Amino acid sequence: MRVIFLWLISLNLLLHGTQAISFPLRDGWTLTNENKSIEVNDISIPSGVYSDLENSGETESVLFSFNDVNLRWIALENWTYNLEFNMTEIDLEHHFVILTFNGIDTLAEIYLNGKLIGETNNMFIRYRFDVKQILIVGTNQLTVEFQSPVEGAKIIADSLENEIPPKCPPEMYHGECHVNLLRKMQASFAWDWGLAAPSMGLWKNVDLEFYDSILIRDVTYQLIEMNDLNEDAWMLKVFVHLETGTTASEFIGILAVDLTEFKESLVLNFTNVITDDNGEATVEVDMTVLKSSVKLWWPNGYGKQEMYTLRVRWEDERINEVAYFERNFLTSSKTVSIGFRTIEVVQEEMDNGGLSFYFKVNGIPIFMKGSNWIPSHILPEKSYDQGRIKELLSAARDANMNMLRVWGGGVYESDYFYSLADKYGILLWQDFMFACAMYPADEDFLESVRTEVKQNVRRIQYHPSIAIHATNNENEVALRQDWYGTNSRFSEFAQDYRTLYVNTITDEIKKHDLTREVLTSSPSNGDYNADRDKYGISLDPQDPHFGDIHFYIYDHNGWLAKNYHQPRFASEYGFQSFPSGWSEVIGKDDNLTELIDHRQHHPLKSKPISFLVEENLLVKFDSLSWDDKIYLSQLSQAMAIKTETEVYRAGRGSFMNTMGALFWQLNDVWVAPSWSSIEFNGNFKILHHWIKDIFAPQTLITQLGLLNKLNVFAVSDEINTDVKPMTVQMRIYKWNEFESILAESHPFNMTPNAVTLVTEIDVEKYFTDKGLNINENFVLYKLIDDTDKRLVASSPVFPGKFKTLKLIGDPKVKLQITTNRCENGEHRISLDVKIEKPALFISVKFVHDVIKRYRMSKNGFMQFEPIQVLQVNIKNPNCEYKFGVENFKVTTLNQFL
Ligand SMILES: *[C@@H]1O[C@H](CO)[C@@H](O)[C@H](O)[C@H]1NC(C)=O
Ligand SMILES: *[C@@H]1O[C@H](CO)[C@@H](O)[C@H](O)[C@H]1NC(C)=O
Ligand SMILES: *[C@@H]1O[C@H](CO)[C@@H](O)[C@H](O)[C@H]1NC(C)=O
Ligand SMILES: *[C@@H]1O[C@H](CO)[C@@H](O)[C@H](O)[C@H]1NC(C)=O
Ligand SMILES: *[C@@H]1O[C@H](CO)[C@@H](O)[C@H](O)[C@H]1NC(C)=O
Repeated sequence: MRVIFLWLISLNLLLHGTQAISFPLRDGWTLTNENKSIEVNDISIPSGVYSDLENSGETESVLFSFNDVNLRWIALENWTYNLEFNMTEIDLEHHFVILTFNGIDTLAEIYLNGKLIGETNNMFIRYRFDVKQILIVGTNQLTVEFQSPVEGAKIIADSLENEIPPKCPPEMYHGECHVNLLRKMQASFAWDWGLAAPSMGLWKNVDLEFYDSILIRDVTYQLIEMNDLNEDAWMLKVFVHLETGTTASEFIGILAVDLTEFKESLVLNFTNVITDDNGEATVEVDMTVLKSSVKLWWPNGYGKQEMYTLRVRWEDERINEVAYFERNFLTSSKTVSIGFRTIEVVQEEMDNGGLSFYFKVNGIPIFMKGSNWIPSHILPEKSYDQGRIKELLSAARDANMNMLRVWGGGVYESDYFYSLADKYGILLWQDFMFACAMYPADEDFLESVRTEVKQNVRRIQYHPSIAIHATNNENEVALRQDWYGTNSRFSEFAQDYRTLYVNTITDEIKKHDLTREVLTSSPSNGDYNADRDKYGISLDPQDPHFGDIHFYIYDHNGWLAKNYHQPRFASEYGFQSFPSGWSEVIGKDDNLTELIDHRQHHPLKSKPISFLVEENLLVKFDSLSWDDKIYLSQLSQAMAIKTETEVYRAGRGSFMNTMGALFWQLNDVWVAPSWSSIEFNGNFKILHHWIKDIFAPQTLITQLGLLNKLNVFAVSDEINTDVKPMTVQMRIYKWNEFESILAESHPFNMTPNAVTLVTEIDVEKYFTDKGLNINENFVLYKLIDDTDKRLVASSPVFPGKFKTLKLIGDPKVKLQITTNRCENGEHRISLDVKIEKPALFISVKFVHDVIKRYRMSKNGFMQFEPIQVLQVNIKNPNCEYKFGVENFKVTTLNQFL
């Protein structure tokens, strides 16, 4: 293992590691409203007004009952955060004393000891103030006065000569207006899946930074493959972003960069650092790393996520002249974990028209499987909660996902989020935070956005998980399709579009990230330019022959493969369902139907859900109980997503036709009807139980097309194998028996990282020829690995319509507990699920008054044999509760047929 340096001295003189001292102003804040009728003390930040009022007992949770509306007064008030803190003489002797707000949500004035030091209007920006001359020895007062964002947005709107639409969200969102005029999480004024909770607060840390020389803020890098040397190597160009207070300075010292896995470091001796008028500078250090000395980073399912530690240290030349305890203030360091990998988006002419659009990682075309990430919480200060993030990202990883799209109506996520994505191998499609609206493009706004882009790209750029950037969500298609009545002023908005996304955001991203592709929008036509107008707006940003599409169908049967097209990359597609966690949020006097209706923000209300259920099953949706509606909606969502995803996976073809399927949406911000696969409380919907198989590295897809023609595909995402002998087994069953009545085998060779069409049959003809009735029978396909006879995947086919099936009956499901024990708050139960007839989509729910969180080994499953085993894990703190078979509620589709 060896590293060669382009320009190096190997030595190890740098000391103690600690950097310039960053002192968090964390505890002891006070919150008051405008007339001081409310005061909350002992607040720790990061926080926000909704959290602090709830924590102090002043209000209930905004997520409870109808509180999104009942507590709206919070958002209409102005609030003040105040902190008293002490400074010593020694503190204030430092050359730089900088007060840094890492995130202020959003409109605020900041006072230090009564003096106005700054005004803020962008929650995605870090604000820094030189406070050396304002701080005093003894007690200091820091006051942050927040203006209601609802009122603030209205004031900006009133000041505009011409409206920037949309003015307000649709009425059923119960939202607030003009969020597009604020650089604030766009979903905080309500979305179709989320409540309005127009927050205010200090949503990230506030730090006092003391140093005497230089502070290393960020480290970014560019990897270049060098195959022209004696040995293949990576050129690692490291960019060290430094600060010297808030004005220009000059310092001389040593800058050292090393990969700590290797012994030697690269040292720039006596570097002269000169910062600009904002006290910022970037120093480039290049090093060369032999390819043979490092291992590649791979996405989930394709290899390991090998990471290396890149450490950058600064040491001022005066270090030897000062007393030991002062040395820290002359040094600064920063460590980031990096990965060696290449990523490219291949957009080449296709034989069948259009351009391809797929990701190649380390030179291998990879089909992207995953979902869309919305903020993990509607309150930004809680959206960085590590527990929630870990739970969601590990659920994505365990479901065989290799990509998530960080959607543009939320926040730039936490360092923790990106680090975990690196660790789990989840590639990220990173939107910038502009969604579903027109936006201002005046110079002040652009300047603020430039800073936002610069800071956030520099903060997150080093993460190997980040695959691509897109500057907005759906704003190009919104303008082209006139979603917000912009046609009469099209050229004006198109001009602004170009100014903001192309000339400002794209340019700025490219300055700080030299490696990644930047898409102007999602959906977009990618590199295809021939159909753009003079402003760069495509005639049809949803063209399936180019780039990515967002695809929703509400008026066609989503359970049928023939209703889907073959795009290059589906970055959004989805179906709503009802969650089950209502008991946790319903008030004692609330009417459940009204609560659900209040939280159903879809402009078509729940019609798409009932349409899909009624279209496929013979039930009158409206007359069902809520428990049944919840079950059937989740089943229906899972069926539709399975069908659509399989169209995309089977459709990769030999030409990389379709190479991505990211369904909408992974997570939720409250208990509400939504497109998510995971409920707000962390429990899985049926979809999330299924998605692991739908996205499995090797899978079998049985696709009923037009005229009941059945195609059986085997899909392999494996990359390090040869062609494998496999067998597809087919068995036909009667709906009332466990024994099959007919069996066939189809041996074939499975090609790695490809789809293979194993067999195709005309189902109706086949059944007629065999003297069978499609309404009395179903087919089960199994994929068997010939080498070890392992069952790789299975897939049922229901040739008859569920509405007209015969012989199907009550499977008489019985549960029997075989293991039931609790250790350290983890309760494990094994259940035998016993049936007397084939059972469709068995859902087993855990029901308990207090304990709500649980995981099942599977759910919504089909059972064609008498016994299956189900594992249940339940969070049971202190093992306080006992559970029995009465805590499990079973539903099957059979009971509705
Ligand atoms: C203070 O303001 C709140 C909210 O605007 C209002 O309800 C309350 O009556 C006011 N209290 C006093 C003492 O003015
Ligand atoms: C909030 O402050 C603004 C001025 O900053 C003022 O116009 C408005 O009346 C205040 N709102 C409330 C509810 O006190
Ligand atoms: C600041 O110092 C004063 C005087 O020593 C003391 O009374 C006060 O508690 C200190 N405040 C804090 C926030 O530590
Ligand atoms: C830096 O250069 C000076 C002068 O050439 C030399 O004395 C010193 O040892 C060097 N320091 C390091 C860390 O290489
Ligand atoms: C709940 O509300 C629905 C719709 O408003 C109504 O039809 C129903 O009677 C109510 N249920 C109860 C128990 O009040």
